[in-house]
Amino acid sequence: MQTVLVTGGLGYIGSHTAVELIETGYKVIIMDNLCNSERFILDRIEQITGVRPLFYEEDLCDTDAVYEIFSQHSIDTVIHFAASKSVAESVQYPLRYFRNNLFSLINLVEAMEQFAVRNIVFSSSATVYGDPDQVPITEDAPIKKALSAYAGTKQMGEEILEKTCDTKKINAIALRYFNPVGAHHSSLIGELPKGIPNNLLPYITQTASGKLEQLTVFGDDYDTPDGSCQRDFIQVVDLAKAHLQACKRLLSQKNEKNFEVFNVGTGKPTSVLEMIRAFEKATGVSLNYKIGSRRHGDAAIVYADTSKANNVLDWKSELGLDDMISSAWKWEI
Ligand code: NAD
Ligand code: WQD
Repeated sequence: MQTVLVTGGLGYIGSHTAVELIETGYKVIIMDNLCNSERFILDRIEQITGVRPLFYEEDLCDTDAVYEIFSQHSIDTVIHFAASKSVAESVQYPLRYFRNNLFSLINLVEAMEQFAVRNIVFSSSATVYGDPDQVPITEDAPIKKALSAYAGTKQMGEEILEKTCDTKKINAIALRYFNPVGAHHSSLIGELPKGIPNNLLPYITQTASGKLEQLTVFGDDYDTPDGSCQRDFIQVVDLAKAHLQACKRLLSQKNEKNFEVFNVGTGKPTSVLEMIRAFEKATGVSLNYKIGSRRHGDAAIVYADTSKANNVLDWKSELGLDDMISSAWKWEI
């Protein structure tokens, strides 16, 4: 049985990935300081899979704590989810973001070197592309100057890994997620936004359930078919499965380079207004929304060219918009 250390494994994407890993037969160790997650998610993972993963409530920025875990377990692969993820918060508190997202990564990679753990899958983001010149976005699209500290931490995170991979001591796969949404079909795990959500679908479900009063559509005057922005929404279970493929690729040494990057999306653009209409149709709930002004920093159209993930990683998204919406709604209510 191979052992995977899942950092941030009680968070949104980490918990769904932990479930898929356990169900595929991996031993999972979770390290999470609960700064943006809840302990009960561990019970839920156990409820779904019948297995309780080993859990360490520790901060990845704590070097001793990281080394302690590596000294106690023989780890085959690391999947590194732990990070702070709010773009808006990172604009306000850039140093917190650089500290949390980069110290944690450096600690982890140093421990990997020290204990000869060779494989890491890194949570990167489509945000590294900024406002793209061309869509769909391929992995070799230019990485532009980061518009937020958060985006900067993902760009630098990739660079830290790439440079370390150049020394041949580790192999890394960076998965650039587009817009993860939805929940597990058991409705036992899903996204748990703290406070008022920034992201579109949680904002929609919380407005529909009455937690929030009204959704504002940030602009309907973009150069897109209906004037609202287009994004590439990806169901979180599909996304979790991409991590399994990445692990398999590293563990079977099928990677062609020490550092590889893959876009993880559906390759299909959906506009904000289309998402609202699809939500109303799928749930029968009519949504209270208004059209507002543009949100600073939003690109008009962002969606992935997924050919590399499809052909090289042998991964393809399977779940459509209806599933994303209905699973998110069942989780909300
Ligand atoms: P999340 O906040 O739900 O999960 C992150 C987990 O990491 C949380 O459980 C949190 O408690 C933990 N954590 C944070 N800092 C830590 C630290 N120093 N030590 C230990 N644990 C720590 O976020 P998510 O949506 O599951 O995102 C997972 C990863 O994917 C992040 O790296 C994020 O930047 C990246 N990502 C997310 C999205 C998205 O829209 N959700 C998109 C692209 C990339
Ligand atoms: C989607 C669309 C908004 C809320 C962000 C991060 C990105 C990645 C995923 C981490 C946009 C519109 C939203 C609302 C709206 N995260 N919207 N009203 O900005 O594409 O990506 O999450 O890596 O880095 O930037 O996602 O869900 O915030 O917005 O009209 O109340 O919905 O303008 O067009 P985004 P989002």
